[in-house]
Amino acid sequence: MRYKIDVPATTANLGPGFDCLGLALNWWNTIVVEPADALRVHVRGLTEGIPADASNLTIENMQRLFDRIGKPLPPMHVTMTNRIPIGRGLGSSAAALVGGLVAGNLLAGEPLSRFELLELANESEGHPDNVSAALYGGFTVSAIQDAHVTCASVEPPRAWRAVLFIHDHALSTKFARKILPKKISRSDAVFNIGRASLLTFAFVTANPELLGIGTQDRLHQPYREPLVKGMPELLDAARQAGAAGAALSGAGPSLLALAPSTKNAVRVRDAFAATARKLQVKGDVHIVKLSAAGVRVTRET
Ligand code: HSE
Repeated sequence: MRYKIDVPATTANLGPGFDCLGLALNWWNTIVVEPADALRVHVRGLTEGIPADASNLTIENMQRLFDRIGKPLPPMHVTMTNRIPIGRGLGSSAAALVGGLVAGNLLAGEPLSRFELLELANESEGHPDNVSAALYGGFTVSAIQDAHVTCASVEPPRAWRAVLFIHDHALSTKFARKILPKKISRSDAVFNIGRASLLTFAFVTANPELLGIGTQDRLHQPYREPLVKGMPELLDAARQAGAAGAALSGAGPSLLALAPSTKNAVRVRDAFAATARKLQVKGDVHIVKLSAAGVRVTRET
């Protein structure tokens, strides 16, 4: 039996939902795994800095799953095709580790539920926002209590599009987390609670009018702005061009704009591109559909 596992890119935070809100995108990495005599790892597509051995994040997470169930990792051939840009705030590490856990679980005969996989994924990533969206799909809200993750997911409106400005360089999430203040004021907490709630309401009721205020943030974006070239100008340009909302994607450096229609998304894409040219910020712009589905498994005999 051969398993093909497709894992989506994800955007996290969406402005106010630091470490809690996530959204699956229609942009997929693929992992093909089959039992074999020895471990062999092939990495295709985006390969920069990705090891093709047991230290690969996907393989490490397969190992983690087998450690959890108390069995040795069986020998196998793994071929991963990486399409999600690496280190850009689009959930490439979440996709790699979720893919590894799901692949490991399949090889082990599916001893763990999706809920248990989410707990392992959260443990591995350190925050649940990207991994929840990668596993469950759609727009996800996650909360942790005693290492247990509660995740709720809703199908995103079909017409909505993500417009992404993807910088030509990576930003370390570790560094982008280290610079954040340990403590926040009550007024900033209240600011974000209201907006994260409105943002959730926007997705649940398919109301794009709430996305403008619903993507505002005071917990992380102001501190990360100096790390992301052109961030305020690019986000403003997207809003001026009619984006319903705009925010840093995850820890950055990519920027996310939400457009209620393809027509609107094209205007936002052009505004991102024109502003980047003016500011001499290098990067690519993509219009991407949102994904109601999370990780997908195909069994091939
Ligand atoms: N919530 C995380 C952060 C996302 O903002 O650091 C990083 O992938």
